[in-house]
Amino acid sequence: MDESVSTPVAGVIVAAGSGVRLGGAMPKALREIRGRSLVARSADALLAGGCTHLVVVVAQGLQEHFQAALAGINAPISYAVGGSRRQDSVVEGLRVLATDPELATCRVVLVHDAARALVPPSVVGTVIEAVNGGAAAVIPVIPMIDSVRRDEHEAGSSVVDRSDLRLVQTPQGFDLQVLVASHAVALRRGLEVTDDAAVCEATGHPVLLVPGSRDSLKVTEPFDLVVAEAICDQREIHQEDPA
Ligand code: CTP
Ligand code: MG
Repeated sequence: MDESVSTPVAGVIVAAGSGVRLGGAMPKALREIRGRSLVARSADALLAGGCTHLVVVVAQGLQEHFQAALAGINAPISYAVGGSRRQDSVVEGLRVLATDPELATCRVVLVHDAARALVPPSVVGTVIEAVNGGAAAVIPVIPMIDSVRRDEHEAGSSVVDRSDLRLVQTPQGFDLQVLVASHAVALRRGLEVTDDAAVCEATGHPVLLVPGSRDSLKVTEPFDLVVAEAICDQREIHQEDPA
């Protein structure tokens, strides 16, 4: 039996932030790049890359807006209400996942920032494959392209060797049980983390790095929207290009 056809793969999209740095009246995940919202583009990419079910974590009172933004997507979508920190939103998403009898038993879960709307489906597929291959926690990363310097204030500054440094992206992929158990430990210990692989690492699970993509930029400031629009335009041109 082909496991990839029958086994559900859950994608949790965290979209409950307010997008203070981007500004604007609408929550960031509902902002559009070339006519399609960040959250819908994230959903498209996760599903194209191999997720079969989605849990979208949204701010209190906004579910209807998200349902409208995601109308027409051909996959089961559940909703959760997010918390005050990103990690709280992930926990709420996992809680909803656990209430779905089909998803509660799935082995692979991806956690994705709605703000990384242009992640290529190939990256999603690589992450899923790595978890299916036995990794408990998988992160897509890219190398740093700028030189890096540490500000030592009164003591001046120093060069940081960037050759081993990597920028962390999403979707991150996990063995579901490992992720749920690790977030429970993090809550008990009061750990503050900015990503989910760090939660698993803190509970003793090794993290596997796989290649990410510069297209997966996290739309954070107005400048990033301009870059994201340019990436979309390039993709259109290449789609139209018969060569
Ligand atoms: N996020 C979330 N719940 C929170 C905070 C963040 O679901 N309490 C989500 C955001 O919606 C986003 C992702 O986590 O998709 C990454 O967060 P970030 O880029 O910081 O988005 P915001 O928190 O919305 O932006 P800002 O920090 O500028 O307010
Ligand atoms: Mg934030």
